Amino acid sequence: MSTKLKDLLRTSDLSKSDIELLLETAGKFASNPLRSKKTLAKKTVAIYMTKSSTRTRLASETAVAHLGGTPIFLRADELQIGRGETISDTAKIISGFCSALIVRTFSQSDIDELGKHASIPVINALTDDDHPTQLLADWITLKENFGKSISNRKLAYVGDGNNVATAWLTMGATMGAHIVVATPGGKWAPNENVIKQANEIAKKSGAKIEILTDAKSAAKNASAIYTDVWMSMGDSESDRSEKMSALKPFMVTPELMSLTSSDSVFMHCLPAHRGEEVSAEVIDGPKSVVFRQAFHRRTTIQALLYHLSKGDLKGNN
Ligand code: CP
Ligand code: NVA
Repeated sequence: MSTKLKDLLRTSDLSKSDIELLLETAGKFASNPLRSKKTLAKKTVAIYMTKSSTRTRLASETAVAHLGGTPIFLRADELQIGRGETISDTAKIISGFCSALIVRTFSQSDIDELGKHASIPVINALTDDDHPTQLLADWITLKENFGKSISNRKLAYVGDGNNVATAWLTMGATMGAHIVVATPGGKWAPNENVIKQANEIAKKSGAKIEILTDAKSAAKNASAIYTDVWMSMGDSESDRSEKMSALKPFMVTPELMSLTSSDSVFMHCLPAHRGEEVSAEVIDGPKSVVFRQAFHRRTTIQALLYHLSKGDLKGNN
């Protein structure tokens, strides 16, 4: 049975129709950012981050401002939560002042708890486990490039089986796409529960899911090659050298791109490390859509705030 979705805590919270609605609205905010400038008039939105951010912070603050609201940026070390105040008390206090809460942090369970105790919408702006708002920006970018033919295309992620890989797999499964994730496997493979869940979703959506350990097979005839950093925020430095050598064959090079379809695109959530997960020729080359993805971080977060505040999203349950 369908209910109202209060929060976006995970990519799997969104149904296909929620995503379609969000992307349609994001398209409108792309051409006219101020078209709903009264949505958050006289309201505030808290943006709480315990990890660094360039795009997500800028996109969130700008989205709130374009909806007529005032963003309030909060750092953990400046709040009492950094001195041991509980998550549930913090959630209740923020709910008393603000109309929504956007959170970037380490543990998924912390954001789940914020969602449980806040009476306002809580949005996951990245955890160690997921990055749902990123995938909304990525999917609208794919739609702009491929239109309706997207469902017939092979969409591949190569690299570390991290939070972005989880979001890619889950979004692709929900949208009924042909989705491929290639990692070195073992410690760097996507989470087993995430793969299981994506396969469950795919049974209903008609998605085709492939989990590989070879970058070349993933790239062959793919319409999109997506990659992300090899060391994510919060990853253990003690793994660095082992991880770097395991991931070396997954670097996106012009040779790897030459295996893809003639109209393929290169994608990256950014920040990027040229010479590690991607060569400069690829990310700065003609197939790269990375700055369009970054542009859509604002349009999609704006759409999310707009529809969550109106209670328009139904979720999956
Ligand atoms: N892609 C992304 O989330 O970028 P930031 O870490 O700069 O927010
Ligand atoms: N996987 C990266 C994404 C950054 C946007 C990280 O978590 O650091």
